[in-house]
Amino acid sequence: MTPEQHERERLNELRTIIGRANSAYYVDDAPFLADSEYDALVRELRQLEQRHPEWDSVSSPSNQVGAPPVVTFVEGIQPTSSHSTQASQAFAPVVHGAPMLSLDNAFSLSELTAWEQRMFRILGLNSGTNIEYVCELKIDGLSVSILYEDGALVRASTRGDGTTGEDITANVLTIKSIPHRLSRYEGIPSRIEIRGEIFLSHQEFARINASLEERSGRTFANCRNAAAGSLRQKDPEVTASRNLHALFYTVGEVSNWSVSQQSMLLQQYHEWGLPTNSHVKRCVGLAEVSRFVEEWETRKEELDYDIDGVVIKVDSFHLQNELGQVSRAPRWAIAYKYPALQVRTKVERIDVQVGRTGALTPVAILTPVAVGGVIVSRATLHNEDEIRRRDVRVGDTVVVQRAGEVIPEVVEVVTADRSGAECEFIMPSHCPICSTPVVRASGEAVTRCPNHACPARQQQAMEHFVSRGAMDIEGLGSRHIEQLLSTGTIRDAADFYLLDMEKLISLDRMGEKLATRLLQNIQSSKTRPLRKLIFALGIRHIGDRSASILASHFGTLENLRNATSKELAEVHEIGQAMADSVAVWFNEPRHRELVDKLIRVGVKPQESTALQITTDLAGKSFVFTGTLTKLKREQAEDIVRSRGGRASGSVSRNTSFVVAGDAAGSKLEKAQALGVTVLTEDDFLDLIGDFQNVPEQLQLEAE
Ligand code: IVH
Repeated sequence: MTPEQHERERLNELRTIIGRANSAYYVDDAPFLADSEYDALVRELRQLEQRHPEWDSVSSPSNQVGAPPVVTFVEGIQPTSSHSTQASQAFAPVVHGAPMLSLDNAFSLSELTAWEQRMFRILGLNSGTNIEYVCELKIDGLSVSILYEDGALVRASTRGDGTTGEDITANVLTIKSIPHRLSRYEGIPSRIEIRGEIFLSHQEFARINASLEERSGRTFANCRNAAAGSLRQKDPEVTASRNLHALFYTVGEVSNWSVSQQSMLLQQYHEWGLPTNSHVKRCVGLAEVSRFVEEWETRKEELDYDIDGVVIKVDSFHLQNELGQVSRAPRWAIAYKYPALQVRTKVERIDVQVGRTGALTPVAILTPVAVGGVIVSRATLHNEDEIRRRDVRVGDTVVVQRAGEVIPEVVEVVTADRSGAECEFIMPSHCPICSTPVVRASGEAVTRCPNHACPARQQQAMEHFVSRGAMDIEGLGSRHIEQLLSTGTIRDAADFYLLDMEKLISLDRMGEKLATRLLQNIQSSKTRPLRKLIFALGIRHIGDRSASILASHFGTLENLRNATSKELAEVHEIGQAMADSVAVWFNEPRHRELVDKLIRVGVKPQESTALQITTDLAGKSFVFTGTLTKLKREQAEDIVRSRGGRASGSVSRNTSFVVAGDAAGSKLEKAQALGVTVLTEDDFLDLIGDFQNVPEQLQLEAE
């Protein structure tokens, strides 16, 4: 095949895929491509069409907006998406007075600059000219066109193919924020198509999904799908029960209107009682635009609805008219898209990891993909039941998501993409590391390797023991531990304290200097606080918080190891499962031996008699950032925990306070964006009372 034939073939292929994608997105509300993938394909098609104008075709999806509307419904045939059931059935067609356009996308400042340069050329302006723009948030919902005649709502329609949409008047009339009459009659054109976006808030989305989960077990994958499913209902009562919102931002056909700028349009809409977005900014020049774009990349977290970018529009209608449009998109507006946080990719295989408690965790190994600017290649699948519930198979296309700073997860499987060659996951019957037959206790979702000597379990347990929240032995990496275990130099955690220069120096990438430092670190870890040692032991169900509670209640390791399950369960905030787990752990001879050996080799934890857990910060969460001058960060976190609060590493909407020290960076910015209360170190000390009242033991630790 010649290169040209190749290109022709690719062009046809792209037109077919994009055409199908449009139909799935606009008609079935069941998109099978992520927005970013769709955008990339459209770009590729446009580039090919630009290179070969001779292949242009009016029917190319690049010349269309969306898919033709569905005007027939075949009784008995349900749409493929479970979410669309009841939806998208026989809505009457509506021809728009003026076509509903789409927008071109930009993904970088240089693309914005190229867009502006093109406008300069068309308008005959100097490159240095500062154009006036209006920046708006790009709401991720469904576009709607509402015709008002003499101020009264007469018809509402979806976008459809941009020329003809579907009549959804009955449903739109149920949306509380959309006025049936515009509120001031002067200056209202006799006929105006008012356009905007219909969407769902996160809160409402969660409420709808919770109720669907209860009734049918099937839920919507995201807010946009839920909004689409709610809007295109045959029964307007269902729409009415869904609390949809609307925001208006543009105009279609209009008779005699004196408004001459986008900023004025928004102002007029507001005066007429139409909901408009308050997060809008008139910007002079691209530098101001790019500041708005950057600001909202973080601030979008504070919104209770999804946005996928910022729309930048030339303010003046006069300039807009001069600029005109190319096929489906105006030249005077562009959408700056933020990197997607939900992306599709393939499950290449499912690996099984063995943790320190022996738990076998299936992990999806994915074709690497950028999600929100980070490359994701693995996602946890939790356990066997979870895989069954989601029906994740090897070879499947899945939607992966990163929410905030959380580990990526598989949101859903794109079953429509299955070829039939996908393989179901089977939990191995033997540990993939040590080949011991695995066990799954009745009533438990977790399958475990029961072999305490399993190398994977040992490795994980040792890594946990030296980790920062546990004995905090800096400088011992997982490679070192692997070598120490495989050579038999260490067999348990107490052996760390028997390491000497000779044993350390034989390790790969270990020099004398590093070994000396490591030996010092090992030495100083002997007197870590008791709660750290308890946590380091890796007792099932005992995290750092419960370890703190146990340390302060029992005071010494001796008291704790002799406590009965009943005594343990009587401790405030220690549940029966935790109590049983601790008692069982200390009853096992090999664990008693380990504890004895730890004491023998010189581990002497600081005991916890002074520390009493109070609960005056119960329910409050704190994030410390920047450099604190009066307290160490760990110490501050301990104070929070000792008062019943939580200390976390990342800021979210649920954070109660961010304590910002010197040179606080992105966490402080995020807190400000989310409206989380920010405290100085002194404010924090005021809040917890006097520093002098901080338990003695914590003060010691700070030194
Ligand atoms: S202006 C001719 N402004 O994004 C201008 N669109 O990808 C047409 N959208 O079809 C659109 N927020 O559904 C505009 N503030 C906003 C928007 C917005 C969301 C949607 C709209 C449009 C799509 C284009």
